[in-house]
Amino acid sequence: MDEPFPNVAKTAATAPHVEAFFDAATSTLTYVVTSPGTRHCVIIDPVLDNDSSSAAVSKVSADTVVRYVRENRLSVAYILETHVHADHLSGAHYLRQNLGGLVGIGAEITEVQSAVAEIYSDASPLAPGGSQFDILLEDERTLTFGCLDIRVLHVPGHTPACVAYLIGDALFAGDTLFMPDTGTARCDFPGGDARSLYRSIQRLLRLPETTRVFVCHDYQPNGRSLQYVASIKTHRDHNVHVNETVSEASFVTMRCQRDAGLGPPKLMLPSLQVNVRGGTLPRHPITGEPILYLPVNKLGAAGTRDIQDIFPGQHASADLTD
Ligand SMILES: [Fe+2]
Repeated sequence: MDEPFPNVAKTAATAPHVEAFFDAATSTLTYVVTSPGTRHCVIIDPVLDNDSSSAAVSKVSADTVVRYVRENRLSVAYILETHVHADHLSGAHYLRQNLGGLVGIGAEITEVQSAVAEIYSDASPLAPGGSQFDILLEDERTLTFGCLDIRVLHVPGHTPACVAYLIGDALFAGDTLFMPDTGTARCDFPGGDARSLYRSIQRLLRLPETTRVFVCHDYQPNGRSLQYVASIKTHRDHNVHVNETVSEASFVTMRCQRDAGLGPPKLMLPSLQVNVRGGTLPRHPITGEPILYLPVNKLGAAGTRDIQDIFPGQHASADLTD
């Protein structure tokens, strides 16, 4: 079979080993990145399973990662999020409990937390300041594990807190780039901005052309097989949204038009409240049991303004026995 995205071979002796784990339910990729010649690794964008109809939360996907780490006797230095995901629950807390490691996310998480707190209102109070994470990562911060450095690149656009991680010749782009035949991610979440995304991507496209770009999702367009890595050169030449022929103005027009036709991701409301907490669930204020909230008319076209027309006089903090 033809290889659709060539030029993705490791390019240096210090290139990390990258093991990919695909969650078919959300088309999400989790990576375990191991420093060559050592047993030190980092985990990027782990998933916790969530069934939207039953609100069941389970750990089948995360346990696959746990097994891999244990079978290979790896030591986890960091569990890194590229951003607050809106389409799946983060497995960061569960993996930290089972494997150790520090949970890191972009420092602008505080901005996303404020926007998310508004969606959930007073149903789910959130401690401010990113205290749910072990480390908040500024642009150009360097972390080290094994014999490799992790360079943090702040790449706002999809969300204001998005970061990418450059480890040797491997770039973990989060949702800043999708595979070249898919292009880019939406920019209509709170704090998202198409112009910022274009500029963030230009920064990534200036990396060495042999850099391997690992994406956070692959939606397998037109039934093609799973692909999750392409070189910077392939993106420069072939990314359908941001190749070298696309201007900032035309990208912004295209992106905004596409986003206007998209509905919220299926797991957005369950995901946001968990992922701003580093992968932990809110607690019921009386029983202390883990709970997921579904705030009404906070997303999509209906908007909050309509809720008082349907349920006049009701307020979220009213009688809990309703
Ligand atoms: Fe995302």
